[in-house]
Formats: sequence, C-alpha cells, structure tokens
Amino acid sequence: MPGPSAPRIRTARPADAEALALVDRLTWSTLHAVMPEPVPPYGPFFDDRHVPEDYLVAEVDDRVIGYVRLAPPTPLACNAHVRQIQGLAVLDEGRGRGVGRALIRAALDEARRQGARRITLRVLGHNAPARRLYESEGFVVEGVLPEEFLLGGEYVDDVFMGRPL
Ligand SMILES: CC(C)(COP(=O)(O)OP(=O)(O)OC[C@H]1O[C@@H](n2cnc3c(N)ncnc32)[C@H](O)[C@@H]1OP(=O)(O)O)[C@@H](O)C(=O)NCCC(=O)NCCS
Repeated sequence: MPGPSAPRIRTARPADAEALALVDRLTWSTLHAVMPEPVPPYGPFFDDRHVPEDYLVAEVDDRVIGYVRLAPPTPLACNAHVRQIQGLAVLDEGRGRGVGRALIRAALDEARRQGARRITLRVLGHNAPARRLYESEGFVVEGVLPEEFLLGGEYVDDVFMGRPL
C-alpha cells in the first residue's frame, strides 16, 4: 500500500484562515504555547500584523496540516536582514513524517529569497521535539532566559536560537 503523500508547501492565502486557526487550536499545549488556550469566540487568524504572506502552509492531499510563520523580528530598517520563525505547528496526525522539517527548510529558503542573512527563533526549554528539529537544521542556542514563563505550574526557560543563512 502506498504511504502518505509528501507534503506540499506553499504560501498561505486569506482562505486558509479557518484551517490555520484549527491547527492552532488542535495543537495548543504548554509544551510550546505561552498564550492561554484559545476559547470561543475566536478572534480572526489574520489581522494587520499577521498577514497570509508571512505563513507557509503544509498540505497533504489538499488538506492543511501545518504551518510556519516567518517575519522580520521588528519593523526596523536596521533589523531588516534578519527573519524570525514566529510559529510552527503540525497536526498530531501528521507528525513524525517530515512535515515539520519540510516547513523549516521552506522557511530557510524563503528567508534567503527575501535577502535575509540570519534567521532566529524562540523555543521553550522543555520543547524537546522542536529543539531537536531546529538543532538538526543548523540552529544553535544563542541565549537563554531562565524560568521566563510559568506554564502549567512549571517555570520554563525561553531559549533563543539562530543560524546564518
Ligand atoms: C515540532 C513539530 C512541528 C515537529 O513536526 P513533525 O512534522 O512531527 O517533525 P518531523 O517529522 O519533520 O521531524 C523532524 C525532527 O524533529 C524531531 N522530532 C520530531 N518529533 C519528535 C519527538 N516526539 N521527540 C523527539 N524529537 C522529535 C526529530 O529530530 C525529527 O527528526 P527525525 O525524524 O530525523 O528523528 C511538531 O511536533 C509540533 O507541531 N509540535 C507542537 C508545536 C511546537 O512545538 N512548535 C514549535 C514552537 S517553537
């Protein structure tokens, strides 16, 4: 029997809002989220600061199963050579078959295409799956804010990672 199809990575469109919001809701956990769990009524997924062009989505068999958000860390011209991964999630059912890695590689390519020379991200200290993925894609730890967040009763480090492009 053939295995699952390979993910297709593409830039998000306005019509993806609902599917992406669902990915966020279904994957929410204190392993990676510092925002409280979303509760109805849900706000819009896209707004002035979260535009479709900043998201790459992964589709398997025409269904959105994950995304990565790539944006400049600040609007400053003097910071314009850096891109930051500001969100990465894959639905449970799609995990463990290379979708997260494909999204990260697509984000690296997109950051290079936009002319960036560095890419950074923040990850919670206890998020072992994401940290292993980032390390295996060339990111190194560049700083740690110890016990920056209190999540589910545990103090958790905020780990800053980066790599050149
Ligand atoms: C992190 C996440 C995106 C990985 O997605 P994925 O599609 O399962 O990842 P992949 O199948 O591409 O795996 C890539 C690598 O990640 C690491 N990894 C993935 N799942 C792992 C797990 N459960 N335990 C340890 N390492 C894991 C491995 O290094 C893996 O490489 P390998 O398959 O060669 O061993 C997914 O677990 C997720 O959505 N987590 C919740 C959201 C999150 O933590 N986002 C990051 C916020 S900073």
